Amino acid sequence: MKFFIDTANLEDIKRAASLGVIDGVTTNPTLVSKEGNVDFHTRIKEICNVVEGPVSAEVISLNTDGMVKEARELSKLAPNVVIKIPMTMDGLKAVKILSKEGIKTNVTLVFSANQALLAAKAGGTYVSPFMGRLDDRAHEGIKLVEEIATIFEKFNINTEIIAASIRSPLHVKQAALAGAHIATIPFNVIEKMSKHPLTNIGIERFLNDWKKVQQG
Ligand code: E4P
Repeated sequence: MKFFIDTANLEDIKRAASLGVIDGVTTNPTLVSKEGNVDFHTRIKEICNVVEGPVSAEVISLNTDGMVKEARELSKLAPNVVIKIPMTMDGLKAVKILSKEGIKTNVTLVFSANQALLAAKAGGTYVSPFMGRLDDRAHEGIKLVEEIATIFEKFNINTEIIAASIRSPLHVKQAALAGAHIATIPFNVIEKMSKHPLTNIGIERFLNDWKKVQQG
């Protein structure tokens, strides 16, 4: 399973990359806005200089022509840029055009298995089901990831599933068990995944016992 980091924060990306656990990055307009006064294109280039894997940059236009225009510009920023396209009818048309041009896409805001199927049929490289936002509405996000994984496997669909809107280590484990190819994870969740109280207790016990060892 691959891990992407879900942020536009350069420091978090560098910290996660230094751990050796990050295969790519996803951003979105909200995440970019949290960075304050940054130039979007410059930030995407900076991220691509840190991470070799896929870096998702989202379009803002709602119509196909606008999406395709933005996508072509974004794809020139670096060879590893992936274009995030919202899951709409116009979005599907844009995905089809871009996939014919060899531009990789990540179809975002996916909340049903049918949307994921359409995104894959249109030629999407990735689909992003949003687990956390479904959980927020008392729908089990993991069920959606399971459904998409089952359907894609049944029909040998190559589109990769990015479990998105991850809020906790439990989400990551559930996504892995469901067969998501990728989880895109905020830095604070990566940190939580690394921790276990028994690890700390174990370290303390080893150090205390080591004090009893005669040093030559
Ligand atoms: C996916 O690529 C999105 O950037 C992200 O996972 C959205 O998560 P949120 O629901 O926490 O905003």
